[in-house]
Amino acid sequence: MRVIVSIAPMDTTHQNVFKIKIMNTKTFQEEIKEGIPNELPSLKPFDPTYNHAPKRKAILNNEEQKLALKNALRYFDKKFHTILLKEFKKELETYGRIYMYRYRPNHKIYARPIDDYPAKSKEAAAIMLMIQNNLDDAVAQHPHELITYGGNGGVFSNWAQYRLTMKYLSEINDEQTLVMYSGHPMGLFPSHKEAPRVVVTNGMMIPNYSKPDDWEKFNALGVTQYGQMTAGSYMYIGPQGIVHGTTITVLNAFRKIKKSPEGHIFLTAGLGGMSGAQPKAGNIAKCISICAEVNPKATQTRHSQGWVDEVYSSVEELIERVKIAQQDKEIVSIAYQGNVIDVWEAFFDAGIFVDIGSDQTSLHNPWAGGYYPVGMSFEDANKMMNERPDLFKEKVQESLLRHASIIKKHTDKGTYFFDYGNAFLLEASRAGAEILKENQEDFIYPSYVQDIMGPMCFDYGFGPFRWVCASGTPEDLAKTDAIACEVLEKIQATSPPEIQQQMQDNIQWIKGAQSNNLVVGSQARILYADAEGRIKIASAFNSAIAEGKIGPIILGRDHHDVSGTDSPYRETSNIYDGSKYTADMAIHNVIGDSFRGATWVSIHNGGGVGWGEVINGGFGMVLDGSKASERKLKSMLFWDVNNGIARRNWARNKGAIFAIKRAMEEEPNLKVTIPNSVDDSLFNSF
Ligand SMILES: NC(=O)c1ccc[n+]([C@@H]2O[C@H](COP(=O)([O-])OP(=O)(O)OC[C@H]3O[C@@H](n4cnc5c(N)ncnc54)[C@H](O)[C@@H]3O)[C@@H](O)[C@H]2O)c1
Repeated sequence: MRVIVSIAPMDTTHQNVFKIKIMNTKTFQEEIKEGIPNELPSLKPFDPTYNHAPKRKAILNNEEQKLALKNALRYFDKKFHTILLKEFKKELETYGRIYMYRYRPNHKIYARPIDDYPAKSKEAAAIMLMIQNNLDDAVAQHPHELITYGGNGGVFSNWAQYRLTMKYLSEINDEQTLVMYSGHPMGLFPSHKEAPRVVVTNGMMIPNYSKPDDWEKFNALGVTQYGQMTAGSYMYIGPQGIVHGTTITVLNAFRKIKKSPEGHIFLTAGLGGMSGAQPKAGNIAKCISICAEVNPKATQTRHSQGWVDEVYSSVEELIERVKIAQQDKEIVSIAYQGNVIDVWEAFFDAGIFVDIGSDQTSLHNPWAGGYYPVGMSFEDANKMMNERPDLFKEKVQESLLRHASIIKKHTDKGTYFFDYGNAFLLEASRAGAEILKENQEDFIYPSYVQDIMGPMCFDYGFGPFRWVCASGTPEDLAKTDAIACEVLEKIQATSPPEIQQQMQDNIQWIKGAQSNNLVVGSQARILYADAEGRIKIASAFNSAIAEGKIGPIILGRDHHDVSGTDSPYRETSNIYDGSKYTADMAIHNVIGDSFRGATWVSIHNGGGVGWGEVINGGFGMVLDGSKASERKLKSMLFWDVNNGIARRNWARNKGAIFAIKRAMEEEPNLKVTIPNSVDDSLFNSF
């Protein structure tokens, strides 16, 4: 404990009289171990220089508000209830949620080297590192509201949960498991060494209570949260993950339309947490990208980071600039400060041909700030959202109709449009846009997974493998990059033609990864690899740790992968046997990972496309150079990829049938049911 003495004049008329104020400030480790303090921490003023979550919908009736307050107060000693009740009531009224701002810790939150964490278990220290990375000011979207990305992707719902969880993690031993219920640490339970140290669920609801307003209500009550994908599973690595995924998507989209990216246009919307990766990825893929963004703060952030090259707020100037870029085949990313519908319409009128079009507004969250209607200012829209939510909803739906209609005019002229996993097609269809095929179920435009990521990556097991260097040193990251590259090049030398392109894209990515300068927060890296690649890279890391060349490594992935996620409009949108509305794969995946060696596992309702629209799961695994790590990585990574390939194979996906047969040849203990093909002519008379 450090004692800080501050001396301040008490009274200006008696200059010699000083008040001596003694403040006890705890060290980082002391504060973590303390959990919820025994004394009331001083009030933390609302800091407007931070990016704060929008005011949430006031959805609770009087009785429910009382319940929300009672729920919040149960974290604290009775003696503080009177004072906290007043404060929390004000938070609920002002922000629509109780964040418990007073309990924000004094320590700076960021991914520290693993040895800095007070812990009995190294695995727990690794999890603390990952939690802190997700809440780092430089990483999180709304750090004071514990939101990592996507507008509502929470690590916790309030600061008491953060404090309590960190305390539990500082106490847990390797014979215990911490159980997390939607941000709330239920407690430590006896388990065993091989069990996950933490099991996370987020937003798991009885299916009938999984509509968007149910999230508003039960989140406001403090009993559930939206964990997105990597927010509530402690696996966010800043913007790098999404830049990589978006680059792969844009590259493959141009391959799909058989055009070189150079001199060709990619038009889209959003410069937020994930969508902000689009211009950067556009530059890496070497096209002309245009991203519209209504929130000036978001545009400014991406521009000042150098992620988008130029900003225009006049469509006329934008059009002139784009014509020059087309003529000169420039590699350039351009932001339009305003509504994306204005760009689509103006480009149509000006005869600018859009080669590839998409959208990454937050339509998984359409009524609470994810999508801004055209024809009104950003401020007016925010006001209407709070004061007249029904009218706001109408305006959003009107805009979606106009949005879909102008896209149709472009696609009629040959633009290739794909849904970017943000529920654009789903919400536009719900608004009444004519974008459904005759069967009234499928959309006239593909999702990026149907056309690109599914058949080109997931069916072969390629997905977002990532790692974090727990030492926190860039040197370790550079060494792991070199190891991964060497492993991939070795595999590529003998890999079949079906996966050569993916291998090549990822070797190129890892070679350029350091110069792309994408590390924000923890020392992390991502690349796409299949089961063989993931296992061989992980195993090479484990050997390097054992030899003392690098420190411990934390493996993981995001949920946007072959096996972890059942999401009919995204990850599993290229499943055509009717099973895309089931979630058996994601549930099996998390169960299977948990008994094959994962250090922590998570299963969520609602990542990416919206509450009730997806079940997605993830894992984290700490490698410490031991034989146990070697055994676990082999067993778990093999399952974590081949589970999804087996399911995609059963759905008759050609790439997956190829990949699972290949996996069975390599692993005699794998026996998967292969579908028989059915002759379509049998149904001619149907
Ligand atoms: N395809 C993928 O791999 C992938 C990955 C992550 C997220 N997503 C999805 O993409 C969406 C965006 O994620 P995010 O983290 O960037 O969210 P975000 O909320 O941080 O960013 C969305 C941005 O869109 C802007 N916007 C809203 N309406 C607009 C309009 N009409 N015109 C112009 N700009 C508008 C908002 O101001 C906001 O900044 C989410 O739905 C998310 O689930 C997709």
